[in-house]
Amino acid sequence: MEAYREDTIGRLRSSSHVAVITGAGISQESGIPTFRGPGGLWREHRAEELATPEAFARDPNLVWQWYDWRRGVCAKARPNPAHRVVAAMEGFYPDFLLITQNVDGLHRRAGSEKIIEIHGNLWFARCTRCGNLDELPATPLEAIPVMCAQCSGLSRPNVVWFGETYDPVLIDEALRFLASTDLVIVIGTSGMVPIPVQLATVAKGHGAFVIDVNPTPSAVGSVADDFIQEKAGEALPALWGQVSSAGEAR
Ligand code: OAD
Repeated sequence: MEAYREDTIGRLRSSSHVAVITGAGISQESGIPTFRGPGGLWREHRAEELATPEAFARDPNLVWQWYDWRRGVCAKARPNPAHRVVAAMEGFYPDFLLITQNVDGLHRRAGSEKIIEIHGNLWFARCTRCGNLDELPATPLEAIPVMCAQCSGLSRPNVVWFGETYDPVLIDEALRFLASTDLVIVIGTSGMVPIPVQLATVAKGHGAFVIDVNPTPSAVGSVADDFIQEKAGEALPALWGQVSSAGEAR
């Protein structure tokens, strides 16, 4: 087993107000390609070319076909040990919040409930005309493009695309929580989209200790107090094994 730093294990044991921030890397071991790693292409298109309002306006069918493929990949995937440790943390710490950039739904399937999905969720469509949200559990989709069940307008995936703004209510909720957080664990994000680094920086400014878990150095390094250079599915269960054994004494 890896030898982890004593101050990191100490923080994991003694903190009570804890945030976890996740990116695509936590789902990599579940078989979901990351955005910028191998397998991130679909029919030669990069995610950045398809996940935009312009791409959807130009060709809604193409964008829905891409989402149909991604939804199929996610439906076949299973939560991995890292998702399960994050779900266990929610039961362990008195105050806990998971902030994820992932739209795959694997955290919820692992049992996480205190979760903010800042980039939305693949399993819902939002009407571009009336704003109605429709849950879309079927893979493959029954019809492309997806039309609103309420007004028959064109629906879009309920996700945040490049060039779009975050829901300010969700960001406020995250910032309020991070203003009194003891510990932030950032898992599997490149920080190419700046929000995870910005959120961790806010928490650090309020005194939080920041742990970064990623097999590859990333932009999160600029804010991390400890960098655990391992795959999430290996590091999280190993770390948690050392922490939760002390939990019985809490
Ligand atoms: P990226 O694909 O940019 O980065 C994934 C990160 O996960 C990289 O830093 C990898 O080194 C790391 N990684 C790979 N395998 C891992 C493993 N087994 N355990 C832990 N980490 C691993 O994905 P994100 O940072 O999530 O936005 O990208 C952020 C956003 O950009 C996404 O939410 C998406 C994307 O375009 C939207 O869709 C709006």
